[in-house]
Amino acid sequence: VPVSRFRNFSIIAHIDHGKSTLADQLLRWTETVKEREMKEQFLDNMDLERERGITIKLQAARMSYTAKDGEEYVLNLIDTPGHVDFSYEVSRSLVACEGALLVVDASQGVEAQTLANIYLALEQDLEIIPVLNKIDLPGAEPERVLEEIEEAIGLDCSNAIMASAKMGKGINEILEAIVHLIPPPSDTTEDPLRALIFDSYYDPYRGVIVYFRVVDGKVKVGDRIRLMASKKEYEIDEIGILSPTKVPVEELHAGEVGYIAASIKAVEDARVGDTITLASQPATSPLPGYKEAKPMVFCGLFPTETDDYADLRDALDKLKLNDSALSYEPETSSAMGFGFRCGFLGLLHMEIVQERLEREYDLDLVVTAPSVIYRVMLNDGEIIEVDNPSQLPSPQEREVVEEPYIHLEVITPEDYVGPLMELCQGRRGEFKDMKYFTPTRTTLIYELPLAEVVTDFFDQMKSRSRGYASMEYHFLGYRPNELVKLNIMVNNEPVDSLAMIVHRDKAYHVGKSLVEKLKELIPRQQFKIPVQAGIGTRIIASAHIPPLRKDVLAKCYGGDISRKKKLLQKQAKGKKRMKAIGTVDVPQEAFMAVLKLE
Ligand code: GTP
Repeated sequence: VPVSRFRNFSIIAHIDHGKSTLADQLLRWTETVKEREMKEQFLDNMDLERERGITIKLQAARMSYTAKDGEEYVLNLIDTPGHVDFSYEVSRSLVACEGALLVVDASQGVEAQTLANIYLALEQDLEIIPVLNKIDLPGAEPERVLEEIEEAIGLDCSNAIMASAKMGKGINEILEAIVHLIPPPSDTTEDPLRALIFDSYYDPYRGVIVYFRVVDGKVKVGDRIRLMASKKEYEIDEIGILSPTKVPVEELHAGEVGYIAASIKAVEDARVGDTITLASQPATSPLPGYKEAKPMVFCGLFPTETDDYADLRDALDKLKLNDSALSYEPETSSAMGFGFRCGFLGLLHMEIVQERLEREYDLDLVVTAPSVIYRVMLNDGEIIEVDNPSQLPSPQEREVVEEPYIHLEVITPEDYVGPLMELCQGRRGEFKDMKYFTPTRTTLIYELPLAEVVTDFFDQMKSRSRGYASMEYHFLGYRPNELVKLNIMVNNEPVDSLAMIVHRDKAYHVGKSLVEKLKELIPRQQFKIPVQAGIGTRIIASAHIPPLRKDVLAKCYGGDISRKKKLLQKQAKGKKRMKAIGTVDVPQEAFMAVLKLE
């Protein structure tokens, strides 16, 4: 098939608007995957993904389609992850395409994530085909939603396709539109090789599998390739297409999408966005837009049993092979012992890693509250970065503390504008703008500290809008603020892993509610436990966890203790997620208490 009959496209959709269902239908219709091999939702193939109903890793599928004009076309669908944490990866997969399907749920409408991705696609000059999905639903309002798309994006929707991915309606129209509206890749097979990596994953048997789009030139088995950002060189063991299972081929040309295996040791060496060229005949410049993923959110990970430290380190080493955005270094906490300070792209990324450590590596962990990176100017003018609140230098040692700010857009039905503005204001947000793209839906634009967003903002936004609002944000830069360190003491011992950095004006309120929350969350012991919050040496809030009553104690510890312990250990298969600090057992929830403050 000549390059003129190649079409590379991706699907842009908000979570749950039907991207995976539609992708399945395309694979089915083009008989890329036989009905009986068809696992539900072929493209999302990580278990965790399926359980959470979100797309984390992107993948690709090559289909062969004979159009109504009688010609055979090769269609490459490049899947994109659906979460703000992974927006850089989305941008790279879009760059690998000439067009995109914009899938919008006809009963819902345009959401923030959809908008953000459409802007990325428009920046790349992609051809965009609007598809209204779920028109089978009784609540579908295609006219309203089309108007919304035109209004919000300025996209001509006169030829939008009405589809029901679930019922298989509109699938053929979509395939025809891909063939006729999306331009073919340009044929630059004669130029020096430049191929864009849009995904990679680690395979324990073959090393890293790299997914890429050949932009210029050609590449074949046995070629010695050079990765232009990582500057590493490898020989290609295998090259192939994704249909969607791997099918080896000899050679891939400009415009094609495929994978290579080249005994690459870790995804770090073949990062998303890097350019592949030939070692013997290198391109003069890499493809534009390469960025190194930069962790934005940090937390401490501690094994509940000190003995498991080495296991945790091994597990992190293994996860890192497959996740170049994950960073970690040893952290020693006076209260918690040995653990790691880990950096993530965002909260979802953090939850995924934590869950995989517990599930796939069977670790029992305690995770501390998320923090951002603060920039601190010391008295001598030196600027340091602090990702761990307990390490904020004292006011005597520092001049200025700066924190990261983001530009936030929230799209919401008009009814929830009030509660959402209140939320943003309460999170130190600066109101910037309010736009109406239909009479009933509004975009709120704020600038606010990232720290206020990593603490439970998303859940608050969802609950205040009954699930209807959606959000999107990007990093703006650092700004100075009056920030102070809030210390927490449990049973008269400072717990460094509970320390946090807060704005001076909020310190009293946060301290007070945090102490109250900890009082609820830390289980009673035989003795009274004081819980205090302070700034420097000044206590600003305190409470007491009352001791257990005698009769309860009797019940708890009556009978043969060692036998009971054995029994308990057997039951402990379910993780206990608790850390002994001095003589007090502090449960996981307590470390996250700050996320649950009113
Ligand atoms: P993420 O992978 O989380 O981004 O979601 P997605 O956009 O891939 O959505 P998915 O395909 O998983 O569909 C979400 C839900 O909508 C599923 O329960 C589907 O069965 C349902 N769904 C998808 N398409 C249609 C449709 O055309 N009509 C109806 N009624 N339901 C649909």
